[in-house]
Amino acid sequence: MVVYVNVEFLAKDAAKAAERGDLIVIIDALRCSSTVVTALANGARAIIPVKTLAEARRIHAENPDYILAGERGGLKPSGFNLGNSPLEYTRERVSGKTIILTTTSGTSALTYSRDADWILVGAFLNARAIAEKAYSIASAEGINVSVVQAGTRGRFSLEDFLCAGAIISELPKGGVELSDAAQASLLAFEHVKDDLLANVMRSRHARRLVELGFIKDIEFSCKKDLFPIVPIYRGGVISKIE
Ligand code: MLT
Repeated sequence: MVVYVNVEFLAKDAAKAAERGDLIVIIDALRCSSTVVTALANGARAIIPVKTLAEARRIHAENPDYILAGERGGLKPSGFNLGNSPLEYTRERVSGKTIILTTTSGTSALTYSRDADWILVGAFLNARAIAEKAYSIASAEGINVSVVQAGTRGRFSLEDFLCAGAIISELPKGGVELSDAAQASLLAFEHVKDDLLANVMRSRHARRLVELGFIKDIEFSCKKDLFPIVPIYRGGVISKIE
């Protein structure tokens, strides 16, 4: 079974992919997806992605034992327990916990995709695991794959484009047909993969994160295949596929 794989450049296009019945892989390599992957790898039970600060605070008020986490303008909002730095999500802090997460672009992309049956969350940190699982589900279900870039505030982002290519590079060679957008992201990733960090650093969002003092988050988020885990978003909650 040949699986057709496309890349969507903007978060809002997750809704079109959901309408087509595609399996969706949401990517926000800097930093929402990397935070989700790290939290689950360190034993978090579940992550509830929400769009607004008000919604996050309301859920927290009803569930004070949940961790309230996220960012606005890259920084931890007032009264939150954690920001959006994957390195904050240590086993000591998150093991066994449920996390309410609100970020500018990443959680919004998840919201756009919510009508899809299959929504996975991908980053450089879990690129191979995501590719393997997306291919096995899509071929078993007879559906296509859309890799959706969350982008930065509604705009195309270089780091998510490279991350889409990293995931596509791990798909079984004879088993997929790639759209031109998917081919382009693969070509870009193959071109820079030996110097990934330096090339991710060229992106506008990475430069902004450096200004804010988050260079270590970028270095960490560029570690390809550190965690062989697959987060799935279903019923309003992200958990790990066992
Ligand atoms: C987002 O969702 O917009 C990003 O994860 C922003 C960030 O790097 O904190």
